[in-house]
Amino acid sequence: MCGIVGYTGRRQAAPILLDSLSRLEYRGYDSAGLAVRNGAALAEVVKATGKLYHLADKTDQGRALAGCCGIGHTRWATHGDPSIVNAHPHVSGNCSGSGSGAVESDVVGVHNGIIENYTELKEKLLRHGYVFYSDTDTEVAVKLVDYYYKKYKIGPVDAITRTMVRIRGSYALALMFKDYPDEIFAARKDSPLIIGAEDGEAYLASDVPAILKYTRQVYYIDNLQVARVSPGKALFYDLNGDEVEMPLTEITWDAEAAEKGGFEHFMLKEIHEQPGAVRDTLNSIVKDGWVDLSQTGLTEDAIRSIEQIVIVACGSAWHVGMAAQYVMEDLAGIPVRVELASEFRYRSIPISGGTLVIIISQSGETADSLAALRVAKERGAQTLAIVNVIGSTIAREADHVLYTLAGPEIAVATTKAYSAQLIASDVLAIHMARIREKMTAEEAERLLGELALIPEKISRILEEKERLQWFSSKMANTRDIFFIGRGLDYAISLEGSLKMKEISYIHSEAYAAGELKHGTISLVENNTLIIGVLTQKALYEKTVSNMMECKSRGGYLLGITTNGNFDLEDSVNFTVYIPKTDEHFMASLAVVPLQLLGYYTSVNRGLDVDKPRNLAKSVTVE
Ligand code: AGP
Repeated sequence: MCGIVGYTGRRQAAPILLDSLSRLEYRGYDSAGLAVRNGAALAEVVKATGKLYHLADKTDQGRALAGCCGIGHTRWATHGDPSIVNAHPHVSGNCSGSGSGAVESDVVGVHNGIIENYTELKEKLLRHGYVFYSDTDTEVAVKLVDYYYKKYKIGPVDAITRTMVRIRGSYALALMFKDYPDEIFAARKDSPLIIGAEDGEAYLASDVPAILKYTRQVYYIDNLQVARVSPGKALFYDLNGDEVEMPLTEITWDAEAAEKGGFEHFMLKEIHEQPGAVRDTLNSIVKDGWVDLSQTGLTEDAIRSIEQIVIVACGSAWHVGMAAQYVMEDLAGIPVRVELASEFRYRSIPISGGTLVIIISQSGETADSLAALRVAKERGAQTLAIVNVIGSTIAREADHVLYTLAGPEIAVATTKAYSAQLIASDVLAIHMARIREKMTAEEAERLLGELALIPEKISRILEEKERLQWFSSKMANTRDIFFIGRGLDYAISLEGSLKMKEISYIHSEAYAAGELKHGTISLVENNTLIIGVLTQKALYEKTVSNMMECKSRGGYLLGITTNGNFDLEDSVNFTVYIPKTDEHFMASLAVVPLQLLGYYTSVNRGLDVDKPRNLAKSVTVE
């Protein structure tokens, strides 16, 4: 998820672009750049890695860039490491170096989204004499627009629509053409983009916060539309190049609400971003019904030679490992153990070249996980990192990397990154099962089809969040909560418990349901809340009876189960039903009500949901 901005009007563009970008840093911040036109002069492109202030310093807060028309970008890397070369804007010219400076190019552009077929398009453009300086999909998109612009000599709008027909994926593009000095052209599919126009000035942005200071009059450009933006004016075109009328909308949000997309907290916004995070992660590793893990560099021979897998992580990432253990063992038949990173380094786990150590980490900077990675490498294991931040330390030091595409996660309590890691581990399990001939191609295709339906099923659960909001209002003063389950349901319970305790400060624990009778059930007293996760058919009855044992001691029961198990209402006090999917993947669905329960309980208790006390988003100390 990146942030793009644009401005054209009577004022100097660069300071406005920098100010707008500063309100989009939550969308990504590993590099940033500007391109500004000073009348008919060529665009001046300036880029910087790191936080936005580096770019502001490099351009003397924008004063070093003259011109009243420009575009800007703050990047969250998805293709290509965070570097000057890969930073946006990107140019169509065959320039060497980073595509910075006064560039001799017909087209200059910035992009938010993922071009899925950029490799094939790059090969096409290389055959037509284009030279590439970056590893990004965006440079391919900009050069493809240039290709059609020169080939058909039909003007920017038609060059862009032809490009839109050829590219697959998501995009919000803002482009400047040398022959149109005070205009910006935009195109959108699935990535957000708004266009403001008022009083002889016009603005483009990925999100409302970027332009709220300048105008509340905006156009919400539709999917597969092109916009032609000039000072104070915006024209819109459909994919056929025919002009279409778009309504001007008044924004009523305040700036803070706008940054959270209208949600009260980043956590709730990110819970709702899970369908997209899962979909983007899936689309990056499943192409046309086949798993493509070539990005990891993990060869089929390496997968065949795995003797054991050790998953190492912290917190919620460790919970992903606990779920992945069941899935990988069952599908791929590989022995899997899951270790806390902070404990792993003190263990003498037998590790050989046949051991694959998988480090799971959203930030890619967690000190315990990084230390564990280094120990694993010292002991001769092959290492694979599943991380969300491209270019992070763990990503750079692991032998192989599988990136999740959840985008920046602001709330300390992880949700969308957890879900993206989960789906990535499911795909990895299917891939390993296929390579090791534990699964037929048909079975793999069926399971991948099930995964493809997960995003929509998460959306369906989110549509019924009010039930959980109501229930959490009843339990805000609960003192003790137990999350129980068996098998994969136990792994899900672990995440539910952590979500609850880390943001509502209510003591809670997750227990393997069969373990309660070995001591913990002595803690159950009147009104102790027992939350049972019941998604695994073969274990359903046993877990229900464990819940009944708690009920007979005064426990208050909430059951989370799949549609159809309506008999559960006869046994528990409150039931949450979720859609069905293959049981291996139920964690992706059952976790959503648990996230919402923790969120609403924290809100009901008036706590700082996004920044819980004592916690940091990335624990870079041991
Ligand atoms: C989860 O909600 C917490 N924020 C925390 O447990 C987190 O999962 C853990 O610190 C690991 O972080 P990482 O994924 O960035 O390595």
